[in-house]
Amino acid sequence: MPEGRNPEEKRIIRIAMENGQGHLFRFWDELSAPEKDELIDDVKSIDFDRLREAVKLLKAQRKPKGHFTLPEIIRADIEESEPGLYQKARVMGENLIKDGRVAVFTAAGGQSTRLGLDIPKGCFPVTPIKRKTLFQVFAEKIIFMRERFRSVFPWIIMTSETNHQQTIDFFEQNNFFGLEAENVWFIIQEMFPSVDGEGRIFLREKNRIFKNPTGHGGTINALFSSGVLERLEKAGVESIFYFQVDNVLVKVLDPVYLGLHKLRGAEMSSKCVRKKDVNEKMGVFASLDGKPVVVEYSEADLLDDPEKGYTRADFMYGNIAVHIIETAFVKRLVSNGIELPFHVAFKKIPHMDDNGNKINPAAPNGYKFETFIFDALAFAERSLVVETIRREEFSPLKNREGDDSPQMVERDQLLMFAGWFEEAGIPVERMDDGLPVYRLEVSPRFAPFKEYFLEKIDRNIRVEGDTYIE
Ligand code: UD1
Repeated sequence: MPEGRNPEEKRIIRIAMENGQGHLFRFWDELSAPEKDELIDDVKSIDFDRLREAVKLLKAQRKPKGHFTLPEIIRADIEESEPGLYQKARVMGENLIKDGRVAVFTAAGGQSTRLGLDIPKGCFPVTPIKRKTLFQVFAEKIIFMRERFRSVFPWIIMTSETNHQQTIDFFEQNNFFGLEAENVWFIIQEMFPSVDGEGRIFLREKNRIFKNPTGHGGTINALFSSGVLERLEKAGVESIFYFQVDNVLVKVLDPVYLGLHKLRGAEMSSKCVRKKDVNEKMGVFASLDGKPVVVEYSEADLLDDPEKGYTRADFMYGNIAVHIIETAFVKRLVSNGIELPFHVAFKKIPHMDDNGNKINPAAPNGYKFETFIFDALAFAERSLVVETIRREEFSPLKNREGDDSPQMVERDQLLMFAGWFEEAGIPVERMDDGLPVYRLEVSPRFAPFKEYFLEKIDRNIRVEGDTYIE
């Protein structure tokens, strides 16, 4: 039994032992005094009640409860099919922006493991000509909307301990891409310990436990604990426009979407696109006993129930992770102490073994616990799902190669810009695979999405080489 240096330490060590985590002190005698302090701090931060609940999930049988059906979805073609509703929603959304009743939120706390980066994903250059980073693209979309609607609103960026300082440094080095520092608010999401199959927490160093960011469900608690929720309420912000850092095509503050959300009186809304095929790695929208839910791709077997008359192939509306969340809804969740449920992921977890060797496993060896923002849908009184067009709004950066890789993200931007030019009547020479012969790029400060491009572009210009519009 390791000896604590004072009664408080003894208490912390005892609680850890009682919870089956005594191994965390295996190297205690080798640690210097400051290292002991760090280990004690790490162990003190563990919520053992929550950990016990999470570990139970490792053994739990996930049985699909209830009956899944397709949810009601507003179709992507509403501009043509319901022009009245479209116009009304657009005006309503534009008014929300003008009146400063919105905030922009980016979930950027992930670890970019699949991309193999050691920089935050938002710092990755993505645009075809200027090589602007994801963060710069989003900043410029925000600047466009601010100028167009003569409005100011905050941009909240959620990071995690794994990338917080790097993210802030990047913004500072780039002068916040033209935004004022006081309008970019950084918040940090919580971390939670990862465990082995027996529920034992991993050590990442002899004196540090291994924790992972708690998934983007951490948004709710981070908004509250950072004080941002209160600031938003005081500033009269009603709606938070949420998206994830990996999607360069996101239509930031899409007025029609904001308007549809408000007209419905929704507490939380979502956008979706048709999946390319059933195996595409996207969560899908379904309705579970009348409530819209997202079934994550890693749990798609929940939808395979031929006895109930459906399989996963019946659910093809993929989640692009662009939500509108009411501040009042976030407040309600927090005040009622609602915790989003944990999901378990079996992952490779680098750690220190019992002999003090650093192990970098080649195969998954442990479990991470994460919460997902879309699980909040189950608690919303009213919500809305809006279908949209993939080419205009969704191209996520996830993998080093193949689908959702930097190459694909560049290709998708070229295809989108080529479509904009052609729709404006500007001819674009294309290769056999459909890609434009010359590179095209439109600065978000000129037009963040197609509607504005068609409104502003000089239709007499010609594409005779790589073309950047700003
Ligand atoms: C996610 C969605 C999936 C959706 C797809 C669309 C989840 C669980 N699933 O899948 O339904 O169809 O995107 O692209 O999100 N993040 C944090 N904190 C964390 C973990 C992640 O902020 O603790 C952020 C990441 O920075 C990233 C985003 O959340 O921007 C997505 O996370 P990721 O784990 O890559 O989800 P996907 O598996 O891609």
